[in-house]
Amino acid sequence: MRISVIGCGYLGAVHAACMASLGHQVIGLDVDEAKVASLNSGVPPFYEPGFAELLDEQLAGGRLEFTTDPGRIAQAQIHFIAVGTPQLAGRYAADLSYVRAAVQTLIENVDTSKGPAVIAGKSTVPVGTARHIQDLCDESGNDLIVVWNPEFLREGFAVTDTVHPDRIVYGLPDDQDRAEVGRKLLDECYAELLATGIPRLLTNHPTAELVKVAANSFLATKISFINAMAQLCDATGGDVTQLAEAIGYDDRIGKKFLRAGVGFGGGCLPKDIRAFMARAGELGVDEALTFLREVDAINLRQRDKAVEMASNLLGGRFVGHKVAVLGAAFKPNSDDLRDSPALEVAQQIWSRGADLVITDPAAADALRSKLPNLNVVGTVAEAVAGADVVLLLTEWQEYRDLDPVELRAMVRTPNIIDGRNVLDPQRWLDAGWTYRGMGRLAGPAAARAQV
Ligand SMILES: NC(=O)c1ccc[n+]([C@@H]2O[C@H](COP(=O)([O-])OP(=O)(O)OC[C@H]3O[C@@H](n4cnc5c(N)ncnc54)[C@H](O)[C@@H]3O)[C@@H](O)[C@H]2O)c1
Repeated sequence: MRISVIGCGYLGAVHAACMASLGHQVIGLDVDEAKVASLNSGVPPFYEPGFAELLDEQLAGGRLEFTTDPGRIAQAQIHFIAVGTPQLAGRYAADLSYVRAAVQTLIENVDTSKGPAVIAGKSTVPVGTARHIQDLCDESGNDLIVVWNPEFLREGFAVTDTVHPDRIVYGLPDDQDRAEVGRKLLDECYAELLATGIPRLLTNHPTAELVKVAANSFLATKISFINAMAQLCDATGGDVTQLAEAIGYDDRIGKKFLRAGVGFGGGCLPKDIRAFMARAGELGVDEALTFLREVDAINLRQRDKAVEMASNLLGGRFVGHKVAVLGAAFKPNSDDLRDSPALEVAQQIWSRGADLVITDPAAADALRSKLPNLNVVGTVAEAVAGADVVLLLTEWQEYRDLDPVELRAMVRTPNIIDGRNVLDPQRWLDAGWTYRGMGRLAGPAAARAQV
């Protein structure tokens, strides 16, 4: 099939390459010339495991190309919208200006004289957006059928998740004939995936839009729930990692997403729950989602908590102390710094006068250009040299595997804050470190310690 992808960021570029790998002829359209040039030369503009190889392969195969010229998408049968929907400055609501611009581009450029084309919405949007886009297309007289097809990929696993999704959701238009055309075209596009038995759910526009924000709200709630339990553990001498394991055996609860730490971040969960609250307000059902305000607040408190833990270990003063932060990206296997808890903790500590050094295996370059004032170094050894406290804030495997004995020889004062609860406290205690986890015991003495 001929396919276009509008918006070639973390989602769109990967989606475009994956669609090409399914045998389709794909054109990715973006307004960012540098990004398009980079993608066309086989250099991913962001870090995502497996993406560089896939990009190379698909460019070489001749089925994938990127452009800034909207005229090039005219003949595609399916147009995936993958532009950003960030939080509006100073508000909870989503900024839909990029989606509106993408729709305008489609209306002006897609040629439906020989038959209808499908707009498949992948961006995460407030409920009601798809119907509104369908109305705009109808008013334009262009035969464009809007299907909302939310994306559930996880950064760090984007390639695998795109070609092996847990489920595929089509939010179809109310008109039955057009819904049928839309379904058939998307079925053809995803035929190879559907043949493997991946569940495909057919629903209407609002349900499909809600599925995505409901899923993210649930995940955010789960993380904030365990972080709230971590606060209770800190207050009582409990251990949240043991608590999580014990409740996780109940398969109604499950073990996933129950790791206490500095909380969630990134370009999705925080802004999605806020946009969901804003939309509920517009719809007059804000009370239904007031709990998300608390989910957000608990999450943000975890960042402050990590800062206070560091401060306490340094006797309440950052000035004159060297602080090493391991990890800047919002999660491992990504270079995405959007709303990153690690970065916010680092910035807070820096702004309170610490001699702060930060490192990250993938996000260092992005970090240097985003925050040139921060002292960004390339290795753990450089970061921790002479440090008074080390904070592990993004759980990269290489940080999980750190040897406490080796590291002990490099720091000035052996204080470690395990902001993701991924280290074995006993190993670090045995090597002479003062260990602090999030709601987690570290030996009988630490259990009684005030953090
Ligand atoms: N990143 C994820 O893991 C993920 C997962 C699921 C859903 N989503 C959703 O997907 C959407 C995109 O997210 P992202 O992380 O890829 O964002 P991103 O900022 O990385 O990418 C957006 C891209 O759209 C381009 N763009 C903006 N306006 C355009 C226009 N008018 N025409 C063409 N291109 C345009 C930008 O230049 C940018 O390259 C968001 O709604 C997000 O919530 C993201």
